[in-house]
Amino acid sequence: MARILITGGAGFIGSSLAEALVADQGNFVIIVDNLLTGKTENLPSPELKNWAFEHANVNDYKSIEQVFKKYEPEYVFHFAAVVGVERTLNNPLLVLEDIEGAKNIAKLCVSHRVKRVFYASSSEVYGDPFEVPQREETTPINARLPYAAVKNISEVIFRTYGQEFGLPYTIFRFFNTYGPRQSSDFVISKFIQQALTGDPITVHSPGSQTRTFCFISDTIEAILKIYYQNLMVNETINIGNDEEIPMLKLAETIKTIIGSNSKIVIIPPRKEGEILRRKPDITKMMSILKKPLVKLEKGITEITRAWTESKGRPIPAFPKPPHELFYSVYLSGNK
Ligand SMILES: NC(=O)c1ccc[n+]([C@@H]2O[C@H](COP(=O)([O-])OP(=O)(O)OC[C@H]3O[C@@H](n4cnc5c(N)ncnc54)[C@H](O)[C@@H]3O)[C@@H](O)[C@H]2O)c1
Repeated sequence: MARILITGGAGFIGSSLAEALVADQGNFVIIVDNLLTGKTENLPSPELKNWAFEHANVNDYKSIEQVFKKYEPEYVFHFAAVVGVERTLNNPLLVLEDIEGAKNIAKLCVSHRVKRVFYASSSEVYGDPFEVPQREETTPINARLPYAAVKNISEVIFRTYGQEFGLPYTIFRFFNTYGPRQSSDFVISKFIQQALTGDPITVHSPGSQTRTFCFISDTIEAILKIYYQNLMVNETINIGNDEEIPMLKLAETIKTIIGSNSKIVIIPPRKEGEILRRKPDITKMMSILKKPLVKLEKGITEITRAWTESKGRPIPAFPKPPHELFYSVYLSGNK
């Protein structure tokens, strides 16, 4: 049985990954979270016995060391972080503490002979990008804000531990990901919530700024393939979707899909300014996935359905049970 630790495993991407990994009975998944933004409702079904939850702060060495000693994980996904534009801008010192988390995880992975560590970095490392699309090897890093700088330095920590101690690593640079469990701190969830309640859909000026959005099932399928098929060892990979949409058009699309009467209102740009374009080069990711990505309209429809059907019950991570979605990936493994 493979012992897999996921930090931030009660959050949006971490819990979706946990749900997919526990669907494979060959895994035992240890979920660590301090519940800053994560929720216990996101944890896997209690009927499944191949997982455990530890309430711990990864930035505190002693706490996370206990978890490594107790479970001796073989693989580690370090996804815990302070996230969200407003939260990270309002709490820069808290964001900087995540550098400790990356150091703690890297050190413990070396001393406990972990077979590979996977780190959740971000497209924010490209900052206001020098080129479009952003490529892993050639687009310069332009990290200025604390969140982006922490992601950059954490990448450096994992690469350096890889070089110095032979710790195999993979760095995921996630671009905007969306799905049923994402909080309304993020744009798609926020617009859907506004459209469902009839509140104005608020778009930061100018509205022509574009973003790309990757549906959670594509993100998780890419991660699973990289893990099970032992791909991208000691590499950095963009995980995203390269279809661009202007923010105003996104608001209109969501309004139409939901059939909402909400008004679309342009609000001032953020004081740090709006990045006008962000789009990943996904050549590496598509060479692994080898299938079309989920269309934005379908993803929005799935989230709306999951939210309206959940009626206060925990929200499922995926449109279908994970074993149905990812069965072929589980079979292809050569761990
Ligand atoms: N969602 C995206 O579009 C996106 C884009 C780029 C990068 N990322 C990165 O992916 C990872 C997951 O993001 P998400 O969208 O699922 O966010 P999330 O807020 O849903 O998940 C983060 C989780 O980490 C936990 N956490 C935070 N600090 C912790 C600590 N010190 N110790 C233990 N747990 C802690 C939170 O409680 C939460 O459950 C993060 O590292 C984030 O920076 C996400």
